[in-house]
Amino acid sequence: MSLPPKEASKTTREICGLAPIIPVLVVENAAHARPLAEALVAGGLPVLEVTLRTAAALDVISEMAKVKGGHVGAGTLITAEDVRAAKAAGATFGVSPGATDALLAACEEEDLPLLPGAATASEAMQLLARGYDMLKFFPAEASGGAPALKAIGAPLPQITFCPTGGVTPDNATSYLSLPNVICAGGSWVAPKDMVERGDWAGIETLTREAAALRR
Ligand code: 3PG
Repeated sequence: MSLPPKEASKTTREICGLAPIIPVLVVENAAHARPLAEALVAGGLPVLEVTLRTAAALDVISEMAKVKGGHVGAGTLITAEDVRAAKAAGATFGVSPGATDALLAACEEEDLPLLPGAATASEAMQLLARGYDMLKFFPAEASGGAPALKAIGAPLPQITFCPTGGVTPDNATSYLSLPNVICAGGSWVAPKDMVERGDWAGIETLTREAAALRR
């Protein structure tokens, strides 16, 4: 099977359009996966990015994929092996901090829609040349924030973005109000300490606030 990049971007844009914020999740314990995903979906953020940065991440994806109404993606995809493992675990999309030919080829072969990272006009243009026009702007704040993304959008309006990295409740609207932004990613809705003590009600409250951010 081979997923054309243009089709992959169409799918990732549709997924990104489901909510203003994609929670970026670092989950150490697979037992937390179900209640965490249920709190996030109940709070109004159904699109979830589970980073492949913990030993439990693939089990977390498998568990979260069972939660009704959720769309579970795998983040921090670096290698072709990551792509195969994420797909096998049940991820329906992938997110990467950047892009390599090997990573893009693996996602295309595995039919895993990818939201690939780009921080500069040249990186965005290289991905566009291959057919990807829905990208992750990463690391968003460190790369110049909303003014930088607005500037990139002037010559490249055909590319849409999900800025991630340093996005907070205070600066999210500066991104979401840009015409080339579909949604933003951020880790603040599921803080490590709240996940570890199982404060699902608290996470649902943070989620509701994030879901109310306006594009
Ligand atoms: C990450 O690298 O974990 C993501 O970019 C999320 O960044 P954030 O913690 O700044 O939201």
